[in-house]
Amino acid sequence: MFDGMNDLWIKSFEEKFRSLCSVKLDAESLRVAASDHTEDLHYPPQVVAEPDSTAVVSQIMSWANEHGVPVTPAGALTGLSGGALSVRGGIALSTRKMNRILSVDEMNHQVRVQPGVIIQELQEEVQSKGLFYAVDPASRGTCTIGGNIAENSGGPRAVKYGVTKDWVLNLEVVLSDGSVIETGANTLKNSTGYNLTSLIVGSEGTLGIVTEATLKLLPWPSHNALMLVPFTQTENACRAVAEIFKRGAQPSALEFMERSAIELAQLFTGDYSLELESETSAHLLIEVDAFRFDDLMPQVERILPAIEAFGGGEPLFADDEATKNKLWKLRRSVGEAVKAKSTYKEEDTVVPRGTLPELLRAVKAIGADFGFESVCYGHAGDGNLHVNILKQDNSDERWERELPAAIRLIFKEVVRLGGTISGEHGIGLVQKPFMDLAFSKRALQLQRDIKKLFDPKGTLNPGKIFPEP
Ligand code: LAC
Ligand code: ZN
Repeated sequence: MFDGMNDLWIKSFEEKFRSLCSVKLDAESLRVAASDHTEDLHYPPQVVAEPDSTAVVSQIMSWANEHGVPVTPAGALTGLSGGALSVRGGIALSTRKMNRILSVDEMNHQVRVQPGVIIQELQEEVQSKGLFYAVDPASRGTCTIGGNIAENSGGPRAVKYGVTKDWVLNLEVVLSDGSVIETGANTLKNSTGYNLTSLIVGSEGTLGIVTEATLKLLPWPSHNALMLVPFTQTENACRAVAEIFKRGAQPSALEFMERSAIELAQLFTGDYSLELESETSAHLLIEVDAFRFDDLMPQVERILPAIEAFGGGEPLFADDEATKNKLWKLRRSVGEAVKAKSTYKEEDTVVPRGTLPELLRAVKAIGADFGFESVCYGHAGDGNLHVNILKQDNSDERWERELPAAIRLIFKEVVRLGGTISGEHGIGLVQKPFMDLAFSKRALQLQRDIKKLFDPKGTLNPGKIFPEP
């Protein structure tokens, strides 16, 4: 917890800013700001500020920098690595009130947004104009574009359309000293100077606070087909993934769910209408999309033989919207369902997709050695496997002593396979101890130096990404 000289700063902050924005000090607001969706973390700030303009964000940053008070930006607090938590106390800067879609440029297929815009609202607004914002995280109904930019969020459609960084053209960013910059231009091409836009995307609110973003849009692909394919052998489901691409298909989603993932989602949603065969151990949920209905079938025809080649069972085709929604709801609920079931630790592993079977085998073998069960699911087409390790009846002492060693072994295997330790959830607070596996000392030092250049006094979202020296 930040203890500065004392807490007198709180009073002077309130006095200075209460006429400029909402400043909250009540216990309930601090409690809400203390947690995101990561495990059971709890780090209350001392103040929650809710500015509604870039100018006020800039004033807050410059004030905090001068007074040495930490500021941690937060969107909807749906993060899964603790990136938006005020781990050193100070000011939680919520972008909740900066939630306007500023303009939709139909001529150039672009949209300009404030950071607090909810992803689903953005999707629906541009869809009403025949346009498409492709990034579609499981928490789309609540998560914000600012949070998605901070964590470089992905989600199921990333397999065809890429992740948040692929859709950000330009950003307005408030730096730690309060200065305001644009990182690029609203153009599809840009080879002018260093790519500051890409540097900010995925920087988890440690280099600056995004106050506006220009995003790229596509025409809306109005048709899709969705199928759920059962496998008796979990590893075969993973093997089929690379084969689907080898046969030239381009799915718009290719998700993997162990049986236990679907069962937990059923328990969580109360929807048992999907019948699981007793021998099924995993499923692939596969979507293809297109502008014309007739373009769907050729895609499906490339996928089916790949499934057959690895012993996949009869696919369930979702032939109406209700069934599609039901299957997606089950898939989107898995994360929350696991959380509701047991204390757990989630690892956001990502490997080249052809090595997914090896990764899954290693995860299960390491789990067996340590006596930890895991529920695995995720974006198989991207090689992005969410490994959820369950505490169940392990003692607190054993959980805390053994878990880091088990995770380290899993991450070592990930790196050996050519992957890395987070695909889309970020490093934030909880993955910091493993950064030495992802980068050499020199590469890590370079990143620390970049942080220092942007935030010499260390007041912006301190305590994230880098392990304590
Ligand atoms: C998902 C989130 C947890 O894929 O990333 O459901
Ligand atoms: Zn995910």
